Amino acid sequence: MIAVITALLALASGPEVVRLRLVADELPAASRHGPFLYAYNGLNPGPTIRAKLGDTVEVELVNQLDFATTIHWHGVKVPWAMDGITWMQRPIAPGETFTYRFVVSQAGTFWYHPHLDTDRQVDAGLYGALIVEDPNEPRAEEMVWVFDSAEERGEHSASHGHARREERWLVNGAHAPVFSVRGGSVIRARLINASNTGYLALRGPGKLRVIAGDQGLLPALDLQKRVLLAPGDRAELELLPGREDLELVAEPYSLNGGDMHGEHVHVLRLKVEAPRAPSPGLRWPFPGGRVRRDPGYADLIYTFTGSDRWESGMINGERFPDVTVEAVALGSEAIIELRNVSSSEHPFHLHGVSFEVLSVNGVPPPARTIEDTYNLRIRDRVRVLLRADNPGDWMLHCHILPHAEHGMMTVLRIQ
Ligand code: C2O
Ligand code: CU
Repeated sequence: MIAVITALLALASGPEVVRLRLVADELPAASRHGPFLYAYNGLNPGPTIRAKLGDTVEVELVNQLDFATTIHWHGVKVPWAMDGITWMQRPIAPGETFTYRFVVSQAGTFWYHPHLDTDRQVDAGLYGALIVEDPNEPRAEEMVWVFDSAEERGEHSASHGHARREERWLVNGAHAPVFSVRGGSVIRARLINASNTGYLALRGPGKLRVIAGDQGLLPALDLQKRVLLAPGDRAELELLPGREDLELVAEPYSLNGGDMHGEHVHVLRLKVEAPRAPSPGLRWPFPGGRVRRDPGYADLIYTFTGSDRWESGMINGERFPDVTVEAVALGSEAIIELRNVSSSEHPFHLHGVSFEVLSVNGVPPPARTIEDTYNLRIRDRVRVLLRADNPGDWMLHCHILPHAEHGMMTVLRIQ
C-alpha cells in the first residue's frame, strides 16, 4: 500500500509535458484597452505558463496576425532552435503555426515575447509570464505582476526616458490595481518589467524582502529600500501583509541619468481584508555562495556607445545585422567586460546562457548575482563570468527595445 502511494506521489511530481496553444491575434476593437492592439489568446498579458523544474514546455504558436512573428523565452536556457530569433528561425508567417518545445532546467520567473519587429510587437501587447517552480521551495500565495508603462505606444521620440512624472504603470494591464490579501499571509510576488523603455524604481512602505532575481532564488534574503527593474528584468518579493494596506509606488527614474526629481506614482495596493499580525516569512532554501573573484582581465569586451536622443546606439561600433560574431568555446568559461560609454543606461541581455556579475567599476557586488539582464548605468564598466554551456549563436543586446531595434544588438557564438 505504502509502496503504491509512494509510486503515485512520484508519478504526480515527476516531469510532465506542459502543453499550451497560443493564438497571436489582433484584439477586436471592442475588447481593446490601454495601449494594447494585439494579444495572445485575447489576453494582455498573455496566459501565464507554469511548469515545474524538469518539465517539458510545449507551446503551439498560431499566428493569426497579419505580419510575421516569433516567440523568445526570455531568461530560459532553451536549445538554440527554440530561441525565437530570426538569426536562427524563419519567422512564423501569417496563418502559420510553430511548436516550441524545451525542457526547463532553472526555476524562476521568466517571460516570453516576440523577437522580430520586437519594439512594436511587444509594445502593442504581445508578452506573457513563464514561471518555473521548484517543488523544493516552500509554498506561498503566488502573485505574478507583469509591468508595462502606458504612455509609450506610438512614436518613440527623444522624450522616452524623460517625463517620468507622467509615467503610468500598468500591472497585468490595469492601472493602479488593488489586490485583496489576508493579514498574516505570505505572498510570493513575481515581478516582470515588460516595458519597452520604462525603468520601474519600486518602493514599498518599509524595506522590500527580495528573494529572487533573474535566475531564481538569490544566495540570501536581500532587504532593499527600493527595487530597480530595467526593461526585461525580474525580481521576486516576499510580502507579509499584517494589519495595514501595503502600497507600492514608483520613483521617477530615467534611462538618461537615473534618479530624477519629482513625485512618485502609484503602482499597486494590497488591501488587507482580515487584519492580523504579519507572518515572519518562510524559510526559503537560499543557495548561499560567494561572489567569484574578478581575475582582472577580459576575454571579450562589449562597448556600448551612442545617444538615446538620436537612437544612434552601437555595440563595438557596429549595428545589427552588420556585426562581428565573437566566439566562445563550448564548455569553457569566459570573462566579458561591458563598458557603457554612451549617454544613457542600457539593460544588457544575453540569450541562451546566464552570467554572474564579478565586478562593477572594479568593486565586487555585495552578493553573488546570476543574471540574464543586467542594467549598465552611464559610465559603468562591468565584468561578468559566462559559463558557455549551451551551444548556439546567441543574441546579445540592449533590452531598451527601440535601442535594440535600431541595431544595439550583436551575436555571441558558443560552439
Ligand atoms: Cu527579452 Cu532578446 O530579449
Ligand atoms: Cu540601450
